[in-house]
Amino acid sequence: MSRSGKVRVGMIGVGQVTAYHHVPGLALDSRAELSAICDTEPGLLGQRANEWGVSRATTDPIELCNWEEVDAVVIATPNDTHASIAIAAAKAGKHVMCEKPLGLNAGEVRAMYEAARDHGVVHMTAFTYRFAPAMRYLRSLLKSGALGVPRHFRSQRFLDWPETSWGWRQYRARAGAGDLFDMTIHRIDFAIDLVGPIARVTGAVARFAPRDHDAAGKPCPPSDVDDWSSLIGEFESGATGVWEGTTLAKGYHRDGFGHEWAEINGSEGSAVYRLHEPNVILLGKTGSDLAPTPVPSAFLKPEGSPRDPSVGAPATVFRYDLMWEFVSAIVEKRPAAPSFLDGWNAQVVADAVLDAHARRTWVEIPPSRP
Ligand SMILES: NC(=O)c1ccc[n+]([C@@H]2O[C@H](COP(=O)([O-])OP(=O)(O)OC[C@H]3O[C@@H](n4cnc5c(N)ncnc54)[C@H](O)[C@@H]3O)[C@@H](O)[C@H]2O)c1
Repeated sequence: MSRSGKVRVGMIGVGQVTAYHHVPGLALDSRAELSAICDTEPGLLGQRANEWGVSRATTDPIELCNWEEVDAVVIATPNDTHASIAIAAAKAGKHVMCEKPLGLNAGEVRAMYEAARDHGVVHMTAFTYRFAPAMRYLRSLLKSGALGVPRHFRSQRFLDWPETSWGWRQYRARAGAGDLFDMTIHRIDFAIDLVGPIARVTGAVARFAPRDHDAAGKPCPPSDVDDWSSLIGEFESGATGVWEGTTLAKGYHRDGFGHEWAEINGSEGSAVYRLHEPNVILLGKTGSDLAPTPVPSAFLKPEGSPRDPSVGAPATVFRYDLMWEFVSAIVEKRPAAPSFLDGWNAQVVADAVLDAHARRTWVEIPPSRP
């Protein structure tokens, strides 16, 4: 901690998500400060250092992990770099929040979890949508029994994105998978959080867009990952789940947020979270139609957070709460939620979807880790 007692955070990878989620979240938190940044692109690094007023900057993530004036790191780099950086950070005694997917496969994620556990650091997976107000309220309704016994979980994530190059995201060697690891893995995570462990899955992925040129028309090697992903799962509780995601859903732009619908049908009622209206939940009981209900104020932000939920675009600002949870866990000396264990559990299921598709079968999920 700094002399002022603040948690000193280093951001590793200062691209889109760091600028959009993590730096604005940190700026709201008087218990922490941005002390260092790292990016392998020197031009972007210099630009961010100026914008954010940070004097400590490096192009070497391992160097940042070993700086004394850093207590915690946020890793928001391409997926193939997460494991080595997270393990180096844990070994240097730094608390770690890492973007999803934690790694390219469950083997990498296990090594990340074990390094964080063995070095006693706080570890967190940046599963953003767990923090959406309607999702938090849906969880509370479910856990209180208000929806009865959960029977069906249903998730749709449809985006209308350009069919040009996605950069590193469109190559298996750098991203692990496409839509499945980029988008659907969030929905696997919150399904497990809501309904409990998944026992078995079957699934399919597909690629439609070649992505062999960038937006300026410059050619590039074509994509080798999915741009549509799906799974059917059975939870250990006996509930069923159905997930579908695509970035090629024409007409689903919705101010860039796309369409997201996640639903529980319980024995006593149904509840629906939607990203584009995250402060409203849809609720329904037998004999009625699903009806919009405002999310109660207690669920609009985490307890104690100084964030004003009425400020900013609702579908954007809940993302700042990830940083609040990470810093709270460090200050309160408790595990963060979602942790690397949650990242590992979701990764095991996502890997199983690829396996199920390759072998055209159902895949049993081993009992939850560890
Ligand atoms: N939680 C969410 O909702 C969410 C949203 C978007 C992205 N993400 C995840 O965040 C991560 C980053 O995504 P992005 O959209 O910000 O990508 P991006 O390409 O905009 O940014 C990544 C940055 O990392 C830098 N970089 C590459 N290798 C590096 C290394 N070894 N060390 C330091 N810097 C390095 C790049 O130069 C780039 O500036 C990915 O894992 C992605 O899946 C999560």
